[in-house]
Amino acid sequence: MPKKNKKRIIVTSALPYANGPIHIGHLVEYIQTDIFVRFLRLIGEDVVYCCADDTHGTPIEIKAKELGIVPEELIGRFHRDHLRDFTSFNIKFDSYYSTNSKENKYFSDLIFERLKKKNLIYQKEIELTYCGKCGRFLPDRYVKGKCPKCNAPDQYGDVCESCNATYKTTDLVEPYCVVCGSKPIRRISRHYFFKLSAFSDKLKKWLVENKNLQDEIKNYVLNWIKEGLEDWDISRDGPYFGFKIPNEENMYYYVWLDAPIGYISSFANTLKGDVKKAEREWNKAKIMHFIGKDITYFHFLFWPAMLIGADFNLPENIAVHGFLTVNKEKMSKSRGTFFTAEDFLKENDAEYLRFYYARVLSKKLSDIDLDFKELRDIVNNEMVANLGNFCYRTLSFLGSNFDGKVGKISQDRELIKNINEKIKKVKESYSEVNLNEAVREIMAISSLGNQYFQNKEPWKLVKEDKEKTHKIVGLCVNIVKNLSILIQPIFPSFSARLQEQLGVKELKWEDIDFKFENKKLNKPEILIKKMAEEAKEEFPLDLRVAQIDFVEDHPDADKLYVLKINLGKERRQLVAGLRQYYKKEQLLNKKVIVVANLEHAKLRGVRSEGMLLAADNGKDVGVLFVEKSLVGERVKFGNLENSSRMISFDNFSKIKMVVKDSQVVYNNLILGTKEEDVKAEKVVSGEVK
Ligand code: 2FM
Ligand code: ZN
Repeated sequence: MPKKNKKRIIVTSALPYANGPIHIGHLVEYIQTDIFVRFLRLIGEDVVYCCADDTHGTPIEIKAKELGIVPEELIGRFHRDHLRDFTSFNIKFDSYYSTNSKENKYFSDLIFERLKKKNLIYQKEIELTYCGKCGRFLPDRYVKGKCPKCNAPDQYGDVCESCNATYKTTDLVEPYCVVCGSKPIRRISRHYFFKLSAFSDKLKKWLVENKNLQDEIKNYVLNWIKEGLEDWDISRDGPYFGFKIPNEENMYYYVWLDAPIGYISSFANTLKGDVKKAEREWNKAKIMHFIGKDITYFHFLFWPAMLIGADFNLPENIAVHGFLTVNKEKMSKSRGTFFTAEDFLKENDAEYLRFYYARVLSKKLSDIDLDFKELRDIVNNEMVANLGNFCYRTLSFLGSNFDGKVGKISQDRELIKNINEKIKKVKESYSEVNLNEAVREIMAISSLGNQYFQNKEPWKLVKEDKEKTHKIVGLCVNIVKNLSILIQPIFPSFSARLQEQLGVKELKWEDIDFKFENKKLNKPEILIKKMAEEAKEEFPLDLRVAQIDFVEDHPDADKLYVLKINLGKERRQLVAGLRQYYKKEQLLNKKVIVVANLEHAKLRGVRSEGMLLAADNGKDVGVLFVEKSLVGERVKFGNLENSSRMISFDNFSKIKMVVKDSQVVYNNLILGTKEEDVKAEKVVSGEVK
């Protein structure tokens, strides 16, 4: 229900694409936004949290085709999965909608027509890449070829990963269609363009005058404007999954046109689809978007320009966050650092992740790193040992000594004043989305509570002065109650269970005080448990980078070489069956991978202290060279730790390492060093021996 005298606040998170699962990278933003929104609700603001699935575009259309289903079916499945994941992470939307809705069609057409009427949209013929076999124009992710600048092969149609050059799909040399592999042609099509260039001054004004935006981002965007804005192609040829452009046969709105409009439609959904009212209310509300830095251009240029052009209210704030890395690396399936929301919950509690992210997220743009060891440390040392412990020791002491009854409380002015100051800071920090500072102050309050309890030694005092002890514990209960409110945005479930023990429900910010007296509490229970030490998954081999310093023929076997290798800290001798496949000079000074924990053996009378890895497909043998890596460095499968226990040759031969697409794979994990993924020479698929 709208609240009197309060300006409504509409808060949004970016709309996730409806063609993949929610993962822990996504969750940074949804958790950040949800905490902020919960805080606003807690202080009594009239806030609606709106989001939706981003359902249109080529990838969704192609994926559905591959699965043999219609796109509507595909986006329906993801909608259910996404909602399930958000719910299990306690992310509470007021509307979780879809860009494939009638409201979104209405607003997309409305905005398009208004812009067109004002001559802010025009048509122009352009040359594009078209695959005759697939019968479609190829967007930049669907065509590959040689980079027109540096000639690197297999580059996408927009940017070269080798030299960073940007270009058009039609510039690619020897292009091929990613779907069917055939050679595309150039084809002319008449597209719709939005005159972004006409908005430079207005956008600049908005950016400069807006005091909420992060300076880092502002400077970035102002620079883009200074360099000159180009008009924006807002249409796509069919086949496409999206909204058809009015009066067009086979032309659709580009997904990035109707995606942000999805914010308005999702808001309209909270008003039972009353689109007229939604426009009026949107224009009266205070709007705040949360996004990741990769979609800055869309949200700071295209989107506000569209809003200005179509007479819609602009956002008051856009909070931009950085990317997530896991154990300091980009999330990657092959390295075992890609976790979906569902994966994370198999081993962990959702509130662990909420805590971890809240603890590091601030107004800054910096990337954040999820380190699983640190996750355990902070859960155990801060959530459990500080917060959980203070709440439990207080409530259980009250339970066993005073039958769970709070009487009058001790008036320790100094402590109360100190805590009240921190509470003020928590509020400021939440308001400014500096969640890390809010967490710090909350934990400091809990520490003060713990110290107070410890110093007063109620377990001793109770034998001498029961009344005084009762008051002291009463004050502690008040701190616990206040904490249950302060932590609510971060730990909604922990807070609800704690309040249940206190015999209260859904307390608001205004309930923070030191007047919780003459109450009977419920039975206390431990609310959070320590995270167990993680059993480290091990790989049975100790694989290391070694350099070959010397190669000679084996004196008694014509298939074998004797190699002298340098493992960094030590030098060893190996016997290797490579004479048929490699000349000496092809091995000398090369960096290879050595099994350093293999039991030493004698091969035809020569000692071999380990083994070198090579790929074998029954015909060719390709040594695994690692030229970019450092001598002595560990070579690992994903995040598996190498074992250093010695292993027999028998056990070694039971380990199944295979070569797929020239990469070395074990249990779906790819072999690599810090510098490179290991690639087999000559062998595309086979086994590693
Ligand atoms: O980058 C993305 O994941 C987009 N689906 C975000 C869209 S946000 C908004 F503009 F719709
Ligand atoms: Zn094709």
